[in-house]
Amino acid sequence: MTTTAGTPHAHTRRSFLTRVGAVGGASALYGSMEALGLFASPADAATATPDFAPPRAADLPDSARARGTNVVILGAGSAGLAAAYELGKAGYDCTVLEARDRPGGRAKTIRRGDKLTDTDGVTQTCRFDDGLYFNAGPARIPNHHVTLDYCRELGVPIEALVNANAESLYYHENTSTTNYGELAGTAVTHRQAKADVYGYISELLAQAADQGALDTVLSADDAERLVALANSLGGLTGGRYAGNGRRGYVDAPGAGHDAGVVGTPPSMSAILQSQFGTRFAFEFGWDQAMMMWQPVGGMDRISAALAAAVGGKRRITYNAPVTQIDNRPDGVRVSYRHNGRTRTIDADYCVNTIPPMVLTNIPNNFAQATKDALAVPTGANTGKIGLQYGRRWWEEDDKIFGGITATNMDISGIWYPSSGFLSRKGVVVGYYSGSYSGLTVPDRAARAVEQGVKIHGAKYRDELETSFSIAWPKEPYSLGGWVNWPGGRGAAYDLLLRPDGRTYFAGDHLSYLTAWQAGAFESARLTVTALHERVAATAA
Ligand code: PHE
Repeated sequence: MTTTAGTPHAHTRRSFLTRVGAVGGASALYGSMEALGLFASPADAATATPDFAPPRAADLPDSARARGTNVVILGAGSAGLAAAYELGKAGYDCTVLEARDRPGGRAKTIRRGDKLTDTDGVTQTCRFDDGLYFNAGPARIPNHHVTLDYCRELGVPIEALVNANAESLYYHENTSTTNYGELAGTAVTHRQAKADVYGYISELLAQAADQGALDTVLSADDAERLVALANSLGGLTGGRYAGNGRRGYVDAPGAGHDAGVVGTPPSMSAILQSQFGTRFAFEFGWDQAMMMWQPVGGMDRISAALAAAVGGKRRITYNAPVTQIDNRPDGVRVSYRHNGRTRTIDADYCVNTIPPMVLTNIPNNFAQATKDALAVPTGANTGKIGLQYGRRWWEEDDKIFGGITATNMDISGIWYPSSGFLSRKGVVVGYYSGSYSGLTVPDRAARAVEQGVKIHGAKYRDELETSFSIAWPKEPYSLGGWVNWPGGRGAAYDLLLRPDGRTYFAGDHLSYLTAWQAGAFESARLTVTALHERVAATAA
């Protein structure tokens, strides 16, 4: 998405790339995505998405009125719904086929009564109290994502998602290969870890500058400025870091003569050994920095609004898994199961948003190169568990209001809810990890709780009321939390960006925003533009 003055998307990818270039190269930015295996290489990010303008019927000559053009859209997830919504603006006659009984795909919010059956045939039913939920798929939206433009356009209210919180915790336990020193096995607030890490780094900088160690790279004036910066950043006293109120208090300040007591920080060596500092970069990420957002009431509010905007069941057929896709010279024929019967739909074009891992199992007459390309991406193993507690002990006892505790244990983190503050009960996300997909449902909960107890104590087990877990590789119509492109985006990715006959492919897997709804939206928009231009050109 790039933008010219006057379009609603003020933060553009191109201006973003320019800014990133200015602050130290795209590699800094893409580092975290690369770590996830989501990017081939920073160089691949060079081609900006063109501006998006929704298609208009007026763009087409009379002979190709959009109203007369049928498009069958496979999948009512974020990509399929956005495609139907944007094509609908020009009057295209869209039919959406959705295998599940609901819109949204992976944008799934888990609530009381939800029933999911995985590929092993294991069914879970959610027993949360009414009004409690967690987002099993996407859960956070950055400021610059087109996702927020859809929230604005569709009137979906949003609220802050606390992605970074000074009161949430870091917890590192020793492993067979790494010793984290005296802080191993101790939960430390982000606040304290930051004060100590910045404090000691600043002390080192100030000393280096003072001792002339930086004279070859800094002028005397700049060395002085660096010392001033170090004093500010580290909260130093006489050039030394000795702890300060930033790290919190062992005895908090109060009224009268109660000035509070600051604890003594661990040694510089202990802080370095803890490796807490290596976690800070997460929240510097382009896509992870506060502010971040979530729809009020659950992530599925966005797909619900989109589904309504495209015409609901008038346009979308649920419980309609696709069984066959045939490109034909003048259109696409799609077969699907519905109410125990196989039905067929003929359309002029098809927008296919079925995840490649699922699509490869559906008979089709795509070109061999397309079939080969669809077999390349693999489903990412990830999942979450929602733990309902009868008391918001994280708020009451620990003063943690939203945010995420990060750990090297395989739960990877604990997400405290960013809604329902100060209410009685709540749902904590007890892991966000692929390590649990192979476990039975009860074992997932037991293992997650066992790790949470190490951080929060026995209440993490004792006050648990009920839980619900999801393993995305085992969700029949997803078969992965997102895709990995082994070896990076290559020829297969390029090929799928182009239509096979009259079938177009779309989804977050065909974007550089893998594992974000924005990737699905941007991909849908790119596809809609290509399809619309083709219809216009064909008829001219
Ligand atoms: N969007 C997902 C998340 O925020 C997955 C992801 C994580 C994507 C980190 C990119 C970077 O959790």
